[in-house]
Amino acid sequence: MKGIVDPGKAVGSSLFGGAFSFPVMVAHRGALEHNIATLAAFADQHGLILVPHAKTTMSPELIRAQLDAGAWGLTVATPSQALTLREFGVSRILIANQVFDPAGLDAIAAQLAGDPSMEFLCFVDSVAGVEMLSRHAGTRPFRVLAELGHEGGRGGSRTLGQLLEVASAAQAAEGVELAGVAGYEGALTSAGEVRAYLHRLLEALEHLRVRDPILSVGGSQWFDVIGRELVTCQAKVMLRSGAYISHDDGYYRERTPYTRIEGELLAALEIWAHVLSVPEPGLAIVGFGKRDAPFDEGLPVPRGAVAGATVLKVQDQHTILRLPPDSPVKPGDLVSFGISHPCTAFDKWRVMPVVDDDYVVVDLITTYF
Ligand SMILES: Cc1ncc(COP(=O)(O)O)c(C=O)c1O
Repeated sequence: MKGIVDPGKAVGSSLFGGAFSFPVMVAHRGALEHNIATLAAFADQHGLILVPHAKTTMSPELIRAQLDAGAWGLTVATPSQALTLREFGVSRILIANQVFDPAGLDAIAAQLAGDPSMEFLCFVDSVAGVEMLSRHAGTRPFRVLAELGHEGGRGGSRTLGQLLEVASAAQAAEGVELAGVAGYEGALTSAGEVRAYLHRLLEALEHLRVRDPILSVGGSQWFDVIGRELVTCQAKVMLRSGAYISHDDGYYRERTPYTRIEGELLAALEIWAHVLSVPEPGLAIVGFGKRDAPFDEGLPVPRGAVAGATVLKVQDQHTILRLPPDSPVKPGDLVSFGISHPCTAFDKWRVMPVVDDDYVVVDLITTYF
């Protein structure tokens, strides 16, 4: 298995003690625990129901930790992810998308029929989406949130009129039950835009005749604004943050609400790899690449012995590093990097060691993408 040479000796020994091969990505236990507790406390203080996005980790161990810290359920992006979470024993699942996957819907309908304790929600933003759900519903209805989007964003009706049309279709359709409204503010770039968007979502909610409505929003960039604006809202507000669990040294470090409010999240993920070559002064070739670390929302961030170096390029199996003048880095050195964008980090590893502050491996987490 990638990263692990000797699973029997992995836990309880040093990361550098021989049970692991490199490159390897590690998760810092202290940071994970801190982040899980921090967002649980934030949700609690603002009356938000936490439904973390599980697509970030797809890890049963981390999902269990989120549920143990008070998460109501988990969000996913696809029916397949929902079914994987069912195998983990998760009973409350929100698919934050409109669903057109017949086999996936049939399988979820069967799960709903077979387990009265299961709760399931998904988004709709078109009459076609409502009709699809209606065709595949089983003995229990699919509960839906009418998604209101914004120009340039992802799915979701663009006007209140369109949303109300979809909502009426959901209320009229057999096998479908309208439960509220949903949106996603992650593509917006200012607090003012997020506030205005949240107010449009509240307005939409007021037009729906739904008892005990749900309003679902939220990633890891704007939950401060969400907490402030929706704290007095009458709906059950479900917050879907996902990336917060590991945070990062790049994209989310720059955009976290904790740049605006008191508190912090800690970067939990780090990749360790050997310097394979220093073929010319100031240039190092490091033994990890696109298969091992995310590169879609910022490149890996040099740490420790290579802090101050610049990542020039990430290739499939290599990272090309410009070293500062007089850097002592040499072939064979083990060096570390933080990552940018957790949601494309966990999927590169089936097993990830969890380490304490001294790099003793205290646990292993698994992922199922
Ligand atoms: C619809 C939706 N909700 C929630 C999230 C979670 O956002 P984040 O990864 O910033 O925590 C995402 C992330 O892409 C998303 O697409």
